[in-house]
Amino acid sequence: MPATLISGVAIAATIRDEISIEVSRLKDQHSLIPGLVTILVGDDPASQSYVRAKNATARVLGIHSQQITLPAHTSESELLQLVHTCNRDSVFHGILVQLPLPSHINEANILFAISPEKDVDGFHPVNVGKLMLGEPCLLPCTPQGILELLERTNISTSGAEVVIVGRSNIVGKPIANLMLQKRPGGNATVTVCHTRTRDMAFHTRRADILIVAAGVANMIKAEHIKEGAVVIDVGVNRIGQTAGGKAILAGDVDFADVVNKAGSITPVPGGVGPMTITMLMKNTVQAAKQAVG
Ligand code: GUN
Repeated sequence: MPATLISGVAIAATIRDEISIEVSRLKDQHSLIPGLVTILVGDDPASQSYVRAKNATARVLGIHSQQITLPAHTSESELLQLVHTCNRDSVFHGILVQLPLPSHINEANILFAISPEKDVDGFHPVNVGKLMLGEPCLLPCTPQGILELLERTNISTSGAEVVIVGRSNIVGKPIANLMLQKRPGGNATVTVCHTRTRDMAFHTRRADILIVAAGVANMIKAEHIKEGAVVIDVGVNRIGQTAGGKAILAGDVDFADVVNKAGSITPVPGGVGPMTITMLMKNTVQAAKQAVG
């Protein structure tokens, strides 16, 4: 029997409806309009399309959003100045600097400059530390989206063998920490695999829940998974383009190969991706509410 599809599109739509209702309530009862500023440096087409999607989603939900685009030659100090200005601007409750930045800009310096209260990406060291300690904070969007996908499809992590492929700061490390926590959505036994893991399949075949965020198209095959496993594919790999110039996307999981062995699986596109943007909106609303107490 083919795996059950975990539709990020459908689950994200439900959460967006909830956010939209909350945005209307904040506006009507508190005259509060959550605000998001996105900052894009350079003209990388993938980054441009991600930032466009973030701003478009914000507007649909009634969140005030502004995109600031700077040329690729912008200096680190110019970008720092802009971040400081946005930190002081009470219209913006959330600040997002799209990564990657041009190589002459130190990413860590920029992320550190964003006020932790406005850090809707959850990348600031203060928020990273709080996440690790299990304290309330703005959570990074993709890991938070994965937790929501599991929760809203009634997949329990408690006591589960969770195997994560990839150790990035954006996905692998934070999702590993969240899954470890002593609370609902956590309580898993967590293994993290990476490029130096000796026998990847040995680990991934033990997974009740396999989360793949490696950035390698179609790397996970049927032989890597256990019968009935939950497979969460975070990969978005551009493997070509259509005659019309549209990107052809593939996940890190070879969907066709695993679909008859997995118990449930997220598609690419339409799985984790829509959840990531939705969690950014949720974080912006959370930051706005916290800003006014
Ligand atoms: N680049 C790729 N993913 C992300 C993300 O989640 N946030 C930011 N700021 N940049 C990214």
